[in-house]
Amino acid sequence: MADTSLPQDALFLGFDSSTQSLKATVLDGTLNIVHSEILHFDSEFPHYKTKDGVFRDPSIDGRIVSPTLMWVEAFDLMLQRLSGKLDFGKIAAVSGSGQQHGSVYWKAGSGLKLSALDPKKGLLDQLGDAFSIKESPIWMDSSTTEQCKAIEKAVGGALELSRITGSRAHERYTGPQIRRIFETQPQAYHDTERISLVSSFAASLLVGAYACIDETDGAGMNLMDIKQRAWSKIALEATAPGLEEKLGKLAPAHAIAGPIAPYFVERFHFNKNCLVVQWSGDNPNSLAGLTLNTPGDLAVSLGTSDTVFGIASEHHPSLVGHVFPNPVDNKGYMVMLCYKNGSLTREDVRDQCADKSWEVFNKYLQQTPPLNGGKIGFYYKDYEVLPPLPVGIHRYVLENFTGDNLDGTSEHEVKEFDPPSEVRALVEGQFLSKRGHAEKFGLPVPPKRIIATGGASANQSILNSIAAIFGCNVYTVQRPDSASLGAALRAAHGWLCHKKGSFVPISSMYMDKLEKTSLSCKLAAPAGDQELVAKYGLFMKKRLEIENRLVEKLGRL
Ligand code: XUL
Repeated sequence: MADTSLPQDALFLGFDSSTQSLKATVLDGTLNIVHSEILHFDSEFPHYKTKDGVFRDPSIDGRIVSPTLMWVEAFDLMLQRLSGKLDFGKIAAVSGSGQQHGSVYWKAGSGLKLSALDPKKGLLDQLGDAFSIKESPIWMDSSTTEQCKAIEKAVGGALELSRITGSRAHERYTGPQIRRIFETQPQAYHDTERISLVSSFAASLLVGAYACIDETDGAGMNLMDIKQRAWSKIALEATAPGLEEKLGKLAPAHAIAGPIAPYFVERFHFNKNCLVVQWSGDNPNSLAGLTLNTPGDLAVSLGTSDTVFGIASEHHPSLVGHVFPNPVDNKGYMVMLCYKNGSLTREDVRDQCADKSWEVFNKYLQQTPPLNGGKIGFYYKDYEVLPPLPVGIHRYVLENFTGDNLDGTSEHEVKEFDPPSEVRALVEGQFLSKRGHAEKFGLPVPPKRIIATGGASANQSILNSIAAIFGCNVYTVQRPDSASLGAALRAAHGWLCHKKGSFVPISSMYMDKLEKTSLSCKLAAPAGDQELVAKYGLFMKKRLEIENRLVEKLGRL
């Protein structure tokens, strides 16, 4: 078998440029974490006046953006923080995760600026004027419904767009966002020489030139032909004129974006041979970091957004979920569901009903019975993706529901629940919805096992609820930031593929030694009682019926 060992004294650096923070994780040659760091945007950079890393525009319905320069400044500060704690000279490769779908607009002439950065100055000082759009649209934005409709119409319908690109048009996807910028700010679009994703934008800083968009994150744009892994002419034409040139080329996730730019060698003493591996999206990198490579396994990521994902060998077009190329398998796919109302919504309910305390929140969850006495809630702090429902809260009580059958059960709407029931309705609602939609989308339900990640995966009461609702064992990894861990792992993988001169299966890097690495996971919540799992099945059916009615009445179809 080919030697897939890594140099023992080398380090691999992974970033995660997410909605609320910039994180970094450093792995050594045995794939163990030697350092990690986090910068929270709101507290470290108060001058940008973001809340939870974003700016919600009160004047345009659904517009949610982040200042591009805040990300540049965060990068500068992160490298300064790391330089006191790490020997940058030992870093063999760097990669990263970006929040998916967000876009960056480089002004004409910025490519030259990037290639001539002065190591005596910070990045912010030199790139202050590099962007034609100063506020990057991000994945939370829902202002592009008109553009989604127009793009779907132009390519022959929603399912056809999903067949071509892996997803129907979604408001947060980059194509509809670009079309909106072209329509509302034509001059800025014209002045743009390159459009990057958050992932390829950060890779561009590191290589001192425009980096390619990686094929996996590129699938979150409604612009790439997912089978060919190439830009789709028809989708490009449906989006904006002259777009292909502004997007540059695509590259596989394991490819090298370039050697690290001289700027970082001189300013931070990186080794000049340090390689920058293509950055990808946060969810795809989490798939890598969770070593999710068995069909039947599901990952549930609980962060600012909640996502559910697994792997697949084929692409079946659908109107619900998303299909991306698998970032660590050059033939397979990654399939995913995304929920916009994740941790911020859980925090809202905690603040309003549980004295702003997770302890009280968990106590409420433990003291209320499964199935919540028939109480069902829908909590949308932001316009939801799944189901497509606007901001609002809807509460129902099922009458005569014992959990054994739905005969004779009817529901009525109520204005409020007592605080403990509200907490349970939120948590059960979030995971019943995941179970129901995963099943509809063709993901394995019940899964062989679930690996949970993201901030809320540190909450044992939430993990117990997942195990009870899905009816399978729930595992967790050592650390909940799998996107930056996955990025560090992919840095090592890209480095190895480069050394071998061809694609190497990522699992060969850890196969018989997984337990000795920081990638190993452990059982955190055993599968629930199967009788209860069946009752949850009925509860979920009822919930989906109510949800369908809400979508018919209020939603975007
Ligand atoms: C995925 C999505 C979110 C972001 C969060 O489609 O929109 O999960 O990637 O950073």
